Amino acid sequence: MSARCQQSPVLAGSATLTALGALVLYLAKPSGYGKYSDNLMPAAVRLPARAAWFLQELPSFAVPAGILAWQPSSLLGPPATVLLGLFCAHYFHRTFVYSLLTRGRPFPVVFLFRGFVFCLGNGFLQGYYLVYCAEYPAEWYTDIRFSLGVFLFILGMGINIHSDYILRQLRKPGEIIYRIPQGGLFTFVSGANFLGEIIEWIGYALASWSLPALAFAFFSLCFLGLRAFHHHRFYLKMFDDYPKSRRALIPFIF
Ligand SMILES: NC(=O)c1ccc[n+]([C@@H]2O[C@H](COP(=O)([O-])OP(=O)(O)OC[C@H]3O[C@@H](n4cnc5c(N)ncnc54)[C@H](OP(=O)(O)O)[C@@H]3O)[C@@H](O)[C@H]2O)c1
Repeated sequence: MSARCQQSPVLAGSATLTALGALVLYLAKPSGYGKYSDNLMPAAVRLPARAAWFLQELPSFAVPAGILAWQPSSLLGPPATVLLGLFCAHYFHRTFVYSLLTRGRPFPVVFLFRGFVFCLGNGFLQGYYLVYCAEYPAEWYTDIRFSLGVFLFILGMGINIHSDYILRQLRKPGEIIYRIPQGGLFTFVSGANFLGEIIEWIGYALASWSLPALAFAFFSLCFLGLRAFHHHRFYLKMFDDYPKSRRALIPFIF
């Protein structure tokens, strides 16, 4: 642990993520963008989805990448560097690939602002912890937690990207209608992209074996799990022929 590691921001950040996850479940309302933005006042200011996702996600890439780039190399232990590299890889894709391809409807600025603040705080928390506080034994690369965690991270990211691709193909450019997603893990669940992302962050938490990563996995489970539940209800209400065996988030179970 570096002398520059302060435990209090790490604990406060992790507690905040956990509390936000619990709050999302308590309020039980999906965040008001995408399918749920119709309930907003018509005057709510919106940005094109591509610009909104780019701006919202950028801090989650730029902040940890900046922390990583500005370190004295003595602070960069290899496992911590690899883990932060995985985090940055996810957000590089989300910021520079997903955002620029999305065919989503215009995004309410109020939710963009919330997302931006979240990404700023979480990007800082994960980057700061891994660079200044994390300590891994020399044999961490061969530890089952690291290998299984990285495997789950890569598997989850693959499912997430593939599922978001399936969703994108449901619309022609300029359309904002909803169709029934088919194929991939959508055969089993309505929130296949969310399931992928949750697996990804559980893997990251396992491989990092850290409080901030665990808190982020918990937040993602609450936020995306609730979103999957509401998407499922939305589809059941909208489509009479929606596949009856499909579940919301966990195949055959939920
Ligand atoms: N880690 C986290 O806490 C976190 C939080 C939020 C998001 N994310 C990730 O960010 C990505 C996007 O999240 P999201 O909440 O926007 O996902 P989403 O609600 O599933 O929407 C994804 C995209 O697909 C479109 N879409 C969804 N269902 C569709 C359908 N039935 N027919 C046609 N188009 C459809 C949406 O358009 P509309 O926007 O017009 O509905 C949007 O462009 C996901 O990969 C998610 O895992 C992660």
